[in-house]
Amino acid sequence: MAKKLCVNIDHIATIRQARMVREPQPVAAALLAELAGCSGITVHLRQDRRHINDGDVHLLRASITSSLNLEMAPSAEMVQIAKQVLPNMVTLVPEGPNELTTEGGLDVDARISDITTAIQNLRSSGILVSVFIETKTEQVKAARKAGADYVEFHTGHYADAFERRDESKVELELSKLQEQINVAMKSGLKVNAGHGLNYRNIKRIAELNGIEELNIGHSIVARAALVGMERAVREMLDLISGR
Ligand code: PXP
Repeated sequence: MAKKLCVNIDHIATIRQARMVREPQPVAAALLAELAGCSGITVHLRQDRRHINDGDVHLLRASITSSLNLEMAPSAEMVQIAKQVLPNMVTLVPEGPNELTTEGGLDVDARISDITTAIQNLRSSGILVSVFIETKTEQVKAARKAGADYVEFHTGHYADAFERRDESKVELELSKLQEQINVAMKSGLKVNAGHGLNYRNIKRIAELNGIEELNIGHSIVARAALVGMERAVREMLDLISGR
């Protein structure tokens, strides 16, 4: 079965925030991405609100007809917001104040107690919970123990190796991904993946077995700025399905 595509539209909001004005509207980009055939929209509500804000998340919830995936830190404030918005899925991510983007996976193993509490609280409102993790068995086991429904594997190390044309590291990262996808599936977890994926490096990730959904943001928004959102999404969907 072809993998689903969830489009992360944070950087539509980044363009808006460059001038602190009303355009472009993330919700307009989301509706165009849906028209092009994506299966869901992802936004990261950061604690500093540097791009997506609370109003955007509520407007998306009321407007989109595909699935809404809310990325957020596992903090009490964010859990409370998610329980009001009721996205289809929450993806718990680590968050640092000065990072350009999410830097690594969430250390579920080291923070098992807080993360279990956040997951239980979200699931009690009917929200599916995913945790963004590195391809490590101890993190998969911790995700299972904490009660997550999904894991999202961090593909950033693969993407970096691909960009450096480091072929042996590319193969190593792909084999770690496939191995940990298998471990996760065997323990009853569903699997998503994302970070750093683009039109050049997507093919090998699309060929892995067991991934349900890919979360892709920067490369699609960057292409959309030049060729339009619908074309940018369709071109990515074609690559994911091997067309
Ligand atoms: N998945 C997670 C958990 C992320 O934090 C991000 C970045 O917001 C993405 C996927 C998308 O990454 P990119 O913008 O590099 O496609």
